Amino acid sequence: MKNNYSRKKKDHCVSSDIKSSSFLFRFPRVLSVTSGKGGVGKTSFTLNLAFALTRLGQKVLVLDGNLGLGNIDVLLGLTPKFTIEDFFCHGKSFQEILLQDPNGISIIPAGSGIPELVTLTDDQKISLLNELDVITVKTNFMLIDTAPGISSNVLYFNMVAQESIVVVTPEPTSTANAIVLIRILSRKHRKKHFDILVNLAANENEARELFKKIILTTDRFLGNLSIGYLGFVPFDNKMSVALRSQKLVLKAYPESSSSKSIRELAKTILERPVLNKDRGSLHFFRRQFYFNHVSAQFNS
Ligand SMILES: Nc1ncnc2c1ncn2[C@@H]1O[C@H](COP(=O)(O)OP(=O)(O)OP(=O)(O)O)[C@@H](O)[C@H]1O
Ligand SMILES: [Mg+2]
Repeated sequence: MKNNYSRKKKDHCVSSDIKSSSFLFRFPRVLSVTSGKGGVGKTSFTLNLAFALTRLGQKVLVLDGNLGLGNIDVLLGLTPKFTIEDFFCHGKSFQEILLQDPNGISIIPAGSGIPELVTLTDDQKISLLNELDVITVKTNFMLIDTAPGISSNVLYFNMVAQESIVVVTPEPTSTANAIVLIRILSRKHRKKHFDILVNLAANENEARELFKKIILTTDRFLGNLSIGYLGFVPFDNKMSVALRSQKLVLKAYPESSSSKSIRELAKTILERPVLNKDRGSLHFFRRQFYFNHVSAQFNS
C-alpha cells in the first residue's frame, strides 16, 4: 500500500499532502528519551525500557528519532526491509516499514545516512504525525529515541511527547548540554515538565547529587519548571557487552545491575499517573501543529 504523503520528486522527499487521514480513538503514552549530549545511553535505555514494558504486558512502539542516521535496528541485529526514508521518499506506508522485533517490540527504523531527514519540513512533520495516529491505535507506549542536541527534529519530538526523559551522565558536559536543551524547550516551546534519568552513575547517591545540581541551576536560571527525578541506571559493563553482541542487557543479563534498575524504572513509569495528559498527545499536538502551520501559510 502506498502512503498518501510521498511526493513525486525524490530529491526533495517532502510530503505535501497534509490532509488528516484519521482520528485517534485511543491514545498511546508518548515518551521521548532525549539528551543534550550524544553517547549518554539513550538508545540502550530506550530499547531495554521497551523490553521491560513489553514484559509488563504493554504494547510498545519505538520510533528511531535519529531519522537520518538511526541505529536501533543495528543494535537489535535486525535488517529492515524498509525504513522511514521509504515513507518520505518512496511512498511506503508505516504499516509496510514497521519492523517486528522477536521480543514483541514494534520499531519504526530510521534511515541510514540520509541528510534530507536530519531536518524535517513542516509538511513532513505533519504527515509523520498522521501516520503515527494510525499505527499507534493499539499501542500503550510510543517511545521516541531522539538524536542528541537541539536540532529542529529533537525539539519536535520532545514537543510531540507527553513525557520527556532527559538522560544525563556524571560528565559535566552532559549536564550542561541537558540544561541548554531544557532551556530551549521551556522558553521557546513552553514545555514545563521534564524527567531526569541519570545514566552511568556509580550509585544512587551520585545520581541524586547530580540531580540536585541540575535543579539548583534550573531553579536559578529557568524559573518555574517541574523537573522530576526519574531514577538512575548504574554503570554496568554488561550493558556494553550485551550491546556488542546486539542483545538487550535485560534479556542477556537479567540479573545485572542495569537490568534491575531498568525493570524498576519501567514499573515506576507504568504505575505513575500520566503527566501532561491533555498536552502532548499526538492528537493534541497535531491540532496545534496544523493551527501553527495553517496560520503561518495565511500570514506569509
Ligand atoms: N548503564 C550503562 N553502563 C555501561 N555502559 C553503558 C550504559 N548505558 C549505555 N552504555 C554504553 O554507552 C554507549 C553509548 O550508548 P548509546 O548508544 O545507547 O548512547 P546514545 O545516547 O543513544 O548515543 P547517541 O547520542 O549517539 O545516539 C554504548 O557503548 C553503551 O553500551
Ligand atoms: Mg542513540
